[in-house]
Amino acid sequence: MARYNTIELAVDDRDVATLTFDRPEKRNAMSPELLEEVGDALETIRGDVRALVIEGNGPSFNAGMDFEKYFTELRKKDPLLVKEANFIHGRALNRIKDFPAPTIAKVHGWALGGGYMVMAVCDIAFAATDAKFGFSEINFGIAAGGGTMWAAAHTLSRRDAMYYTMTGEPFDGVEAERMGAVNKSVPPEELDDEVDRFVEKLLEKNALALEYSKDYYDHARRMTYRESHDYELAKGEEMKYFQRQEFFTEGVGQFMEDKYKPGTGEAYE
Ligand code: ACO
Repeated sequence: MARYNTIELAVDDRDVATLTFDRPEKRNAMSPELLEEVGDALETIRGDVRALVIEGNGPSFNAGMDFEKYFTELRKKDPLLVKEANFIHGRALNRIKDFPAPTIAKVHGWALGGGYMVMAVCDIAFAATDAKFGFSEINFGIAAGGGTMWAAAHTLSRRDAMYYTMTGEPFDGVEAERMGAVNKSVPPEELDDEVDRFVEKLLEKNALALEYSKDYYDHARRMTYRESHDYELAKGEEMKYFQRQEFFTEGVGQFMEDKYKPGTGEAYE
């Protein structure tokens, strides 16, 4: 596995990948180098792993864009470098958003601005009850943007998104769970086990079906009912073809033989 300066990437014997932001001294703020490494790292494992967990080393998940290396330094040198950095940022976030296997954000400490966005593009998010989320842009005089408002709009109600992007007030994991921004918040000492239990549940499912679930959802959010219905039917046939129709013999077939209840995922007594 390639070595990186600002992240760690590990794949365990279950084919579960963990990407760790690794600039703890900077609260894992995202420099262009870090974003480049995220994009490269995810490209190397795309299609080869069953799940991807994203976490932060040290006291913070991710403190957002690096004020010095992303915002200030490049602007002073050459505005075109900002354009390139924006491209690298977009590429890294797209690699997470379009990752074929389920992606899980494990949030402790700060998840601010661009760090919140990382959490938002993951499929699932778990947080420590004392994690601290926020849209701090308004606190330094700009609007939450560059994808951060998308993240707010896709994880929060309009009322909550407007409140938190207009006040810049941080909120904790309990509030994030109440608003539906994360699936669940748990005491910090339980976070690792909570995420691992969830990963184990995913590993029991068909990998291709999980991949198609993600794809259907993304399309369903922007298609009409009719378009989505037809898309899912057509893609469903494709999925079953790639699966060599095994659901007929395994899931449905076992049900017909009174061996398995798909409704609960349990065997008949
Ligand atoms: N960019 C660059 N460096 C950062 C960032 C950041 N976003 N966040 C933290 N750091 C650095 C600090 O400069 C400091 O470095 P230093 O020790 O070399 O001086 C180190 O991380 C530790 O930060 P502290 O401020 O000392 O830690 P503290 O725990 O007191 O506060 C906090 C943490 C709240 C995250 C604070 O650093 C902060 O407000 N950072 C800015 C976060 C932010 O607003 N992010 C959103 C950016 S906008 C966007 O992403 C779209």
